[in-house]
Amino acid sequence: MIIAVDGPTASGKGTISKRLAAHFGLPHLDTGLLYRAVGRQVILAGGDPDRPQDALAAVDFPAELLDEPVLRDEATGSLASRASVHPAVRKALFERQRAFALQDGGAVLDGRDIGTVIAPDADVKLFITASVEARAQRRFKEMQQRGSSITLTEIEADLRRRDERDTNRTDAPLIAASDAYVIDTSVLDIEEAFAAALEAINQAS
Ligand code: DC
Repeated sequence: MIIAVDGPTASGKGTISKRLAAHFGLPHLDTGLLYRAVGRQVILAGGDPDRPQDALAAVDFPAELLDEPVLRDEATGSLASRASVHPAVRKALFERQRAFALQDGGAVLDGRDIGTVIAPDADVKLFITASVEARAQRRFKEMQQRGSSITLTEIEADLRRRDERDTNRTDAPLIAASDAYVIDTSVLDIEEAFAAALEAINQAS
C-alpha cells in the first residue's frame, strides 16, 4: 500500500505520516528533508538557492546532511522552499522518491507533490492542512522547546511567504490531488488528526 501525504508546513503531516508508517509497518520518507538538505548544501557551497545552477549542483549533497538537526530550522525550510522552485532540482530528486514509493510492500511518503507527481497512483492520498495561525502556533511552541528566540510574528510571516511560494510555483505546486482526502487539523489534536487519517484510509481501501 502506498500512502501519499501532502500539505503545507506545520500542518501535522509529518507526525501523522510517522504514526501511519508505524501503524501499518511501512517505511516512511519525509521528502521535505531532501529539499532541506539541498537548501543547506547550497549555502555550505557558498551558492544562492534562487539560482537554478547553484540549487541543481546541491542535489548531490552528502548523505550525512540528512541527519543534521539544523535541517529542521525555519531558515532551512525557507532555503528548501526557494531551491525547490527549480524544475531541474525537482527532476533530479524524482527517481529517489519514486523508487521509495514503489518498494515492495509499500510506503508512506509526505511532502507537497506526492499525490500529484511522485505517486499519482497511490492507494490513499491525504491532504493535511490547517489555518496559518494554528500552524504558526505549533511551530512557535516547537521552536521555543528547542531554545530558539524566533517570535510568533516572524514565524507566521515566514509560513505565509513559504505557502505563497510553494503554492504559486509552476512546477508541482502545493495542491490537493483531486482524489485526496482533505483533513483540516486546525482544531484537532494529534490523536484526533490520526483517527481522521485512519478513517480516510479505511474508506479508501
Ligand atoms: O515539508 P517541509 O516544510 O520540510 O518542506 C520544506 C520545503 O521543501 C517546502 O517549503 C517546499 C519544499 N518541498 C517540496 O517542494 N516538495 C516536497 N515534496 C517536499 C518539500
